[in-house]
Amino acid sequence: MTELNTEHTKKRETFSTGLAVFFATLGSAVGLGNIWKFPYVVGSNGGGAFLFIYFICVIFVGIPVMVCELYIGRKTRSNAVGAFEKLKPKTAWKGIGLMGIITSFLIMFFYSDVSGWVYSYVFKAITGQLSGVTPATANTIFEKTSVGLVSPIVWQGIVFIVVAAILIAGVQNGIERITKSLLPVLFVLIIICDIRAFTLPGVRNGLKFLYYADFTKINGGVILAALGLAFFKLSLGMGTMITYGSYFTDNNNLLHTPIKVAISDVVVSLLAGMAIFPVVFTFKMEPSAGPGLLFTTIPLVFSKIPFGGILLACFFILTSIAATTAMISLVEVPVAYFSEEKNMKRTNAVLLTVIIMFIIGILATLSASSKSLLGYIKIFGFGFFDLFDKLSSNILMPVGGLLTTIFVGYFIRKEDFKNEVMNNGALSNDSKFNLLYIVIRYISPILLVIVFLSSLGIIKF
Ligand code: PHE
Repeated sequence: MTELNTEHTKKRETFSTGLAVFFATLGSAVGLGNIWKFPYVVGSNGGGAFLFIYFICVIFVGIPVMVCELYIGRKTRSNAVGAFEKLKPKTAWKGIGLMGIITSFLIMFFYSDVSGWVYSYVFKAITGQLSGVTPATANTIFEKTSVGLVSPIVWQGIVFIVVAAILIAGVQNGIERITKSLLPVLFVLIIICDIRAFTLPGVRNGLKFLYYADFTKINGGVILAALGLAFFKLSLGMGTMITYGSYFTDNNNLLHTPIKVAISDVVVSLLAGMAIFPVVFTFKMEPSAGPGLLFTTIPLVFSKIPFGGILLACFFILTSIAATTAMISLVEVPVAYFSEEKNMKRTNAVLLTVIIMFIIGILATLSASSKSLLGYIKIFGFGFFDLFDKLSSNILMPVGGLLTTIFVGYFIRKEDFKNEVMNNGALSNDSKFNLLYIVIRYISPILLVIVFLSSLGIIKF
């Protein structure tokens, strides 16, 4: 127990300065979600109109849910399950935490697969296999990377070795330093991609696709996809922000950090979208091509420009780092649970978690496309890869978020919540708090329920 406590305190200490907390939280939010998922989900859901709904979800659901989760974590200084147990002992509320642990497994099953593709693109870029690609060869290379028996699984295994090594070493400090120095570099590299993409002939159509809102394209499914993406992007509804909140210092601002993280996260996603869609329209590719979009477009951005090979390698190196810091925050959810609630040694907790994730994750890897070995297996119409993705983003995370807002809004005393968010009086902004409280009690849960009903076809727009 003492050992656990020491470890726990040690981790909390590392999130010591305001900047470190901000970057650690941003390190969880910014990941494949911005660079890989955001562009293809926007692409498959009609572009600008989707973006509009997405912003509404971030403001009225994402930020409030993040405040609630950080509150729960910091107040209790516990893992996702222990936190609910401390606030409401011996009740079913801890089910939210348990659901979060399941969700973190589901996400990792496919996230590790895509991270493996990114790692392998680092290798391919460094060894020159991506130089001089054309749209056709870019497609073939992506297919070879993602379909097949050996290579995708090997790369996925490498991903897990890296993640486990970082978590076992417990180098929260190192992670902080990595995110703090490298996230800004990723940002600059995406801007270089943007500048290059803006010289392509498809830039007008690309930007129009991203920003022109055609509201006739909106339906229940599109709204659910936007909501799911907001949860996935901001790492919500599954315990990550509760766990990270438990490492926040007492003087962190629980209101400003989520706002700053959400804004920075949206900016990174938009920059990624602005790099990718001009390429899509220049080379007459399909914006709704799906999960391969990043991998078939970015190599084209860098082909035929000076230092293109080096820039491409840097781009994938930084994307792999962003993916890795996001995975650390995902895996930390069960690890903190196993080590604190089940009294497991941290190393054992990490090994148990990643081994399960890897074994079941292989199912996702072998069903990433219809050409994959298990691509023919369909459950509710989805292959494993899509099933894990849809189940987590579109169902479990929003349900987790809904229950969390109801928990904080109706089952926690307003004064307790306010004291924690206002750092026991150190911050004094009553009007901001009151506004937030109204959103948490009324707007976020109602929006969440409406989205569910409309996606089930019970309400029609
Ligand atoms: N937010 C991360 C991304 O966009 C993914 C993630 C989801 C991380 C849930 C932690 C928890 O890549």
